[in-house]
Amino acid sequence: MHDHTGEPCLDNFQRPLHDLRISVTDRCNLRCMYCMPGEVFGRDFVFLRHAELLSFEEIVRVARQCVALGVRKIRLSGGEPMLRHGIERLVEMLAGLHDDDGKPIELAMTSNGTLLAKKARALKDAGLMRLNISLDALDESIFRRMTGGGSAPEIVLEGIAAAQSVGLTPVKVNAVIKRGVNESEILPLVRRFRHTGVIMRFIEYMDVGNTNGWRLDDVVTAREILALIDREHPLAPIAPSTEGEGVAERWALRDGSGEIGVITSVTQAFCHTCNRLRLSTDGKLYTCLFATEGVDLRALLRDPSGDDATLRQRIAAAWRCRTDRYSQLRHEMTETLPGRIEMSYIGG
Ligand code: GTP
Ligand code: 5AD
Ligand code: SF4
Ligand code: SF4
Repeated sequence: MHDHTGEPCLDNFQRPLHDLRISVTDRCNLRCMYCMPGEVFGRDFVFLRHAELLSFEEIVRVARQCVALGVRKIRLSGGEPMLRHGIERLVEMLAGLHDDDGKPIELAMTSNGTLLAKKARALKDAGLMRLNISLDALDESIFRRMTGGGSAPEIVLEGIAAAQSVGLTPVKVNAVIKRGVNESEILPLVRRFRHTGVIMRFIEYMDVGNTNGWRLDDVVTAREILALIDREHPLAPIAPSTEGEGVAERWALRDGSGEIGVITSVTQAFCHTCNRLRLSTDGKLYTCLFATEGVDLRALLRDPSGDDATLRQRIAAAWRCRTDRYSQLRHEMTETLPGRIEMSYIGG
């Protein structure tokens, strides 16, 4: 948690920099309705060109400076990270990073699992430690409706099995729950992953990105989800262990058959402990999932006179002046507003 002065890198609310999420591609082979809806991300949508992406070497340069500033956990995401050509090589390069005591940095990935059956072994061998995999439904038609139809639940299930067999564990499975679409899948998902060691997590549908159609009514709250599960599988809370452990509230199935989690971004914001920095595919730093402006690092990375000390200063400065607490502010707004809220209420 230290920079070159030996002090932890804290933001304006005293939150330390601890996690780095790196997006390695803006492309995805699925079109989830809550993330990249087909109507918006259709044939005509213009994705980034190759020259606009950070190279692996550039990504690692940024990651190394982030580690010097306190980052202890790196997560690769996207889009779908496994679509980035040579992703195993990036994993291998990042796996070489370690803290001052020589301890390796925790290295994880969030993926839709569709390419995992093929890639699990190579990713494990390259040094990946853990995987979070999205699976919103076991029912084929509901899955298709949620994800735009580019895959099938069996394919993701095969990927999950592959991840477990090569030891990319514990595997966490993420399901975003949208009212009227897949809440009927909550219990089947819990049943499917009990006794398997997979941690099943249910996510409140968030108003992230350009999903202007977001309505509070579409959100199935974590409390509702927990009540539903608890009626069939009595639950007991698990106390959070270390800081920087993640955003999920953890619950044990009392019969000892497994663990589940809920991610309460909408109904119970966790901004007060938010220690995440994000690096976009094209090299901008974002200090919040909902931030509209990022700090460009690419120009500096490509400037022959741009050295690592300057890079580190730029990253540290972005973190130190951070005041983000979007979810918390939105939550305060929703409490005072009747019914539904649109992004325009809080200035998008
Ligand atoms: P673990 O380290 O395994 O706990 O991973 P994670 O839960 O941090 O990451 P994952 O990529 O699996 O994300 C799960 C859900 O949490 C997704 O819906 C993310 O969009 C959401 N999420 C992750 N980080 C943040 C955050 O900082 N703020 C908000 N509001 N949501 C987040
Ligand atoms: N609300 C909640 N979670 C979302 N994700 C993507 N978009 C949203 C949203 N609008 C989740 C995916 C994946 C993780 C990276 O983020 O399902 O599990
Ligand atoms: Fe978004 Fe992930 Fe769905 Fe792709 S699989 S559209 S990145 S949520
Ligand atoms: Fe962090 Fe922003 Fe999410 Fe709050 S809304 S938890 S500040 S990323």
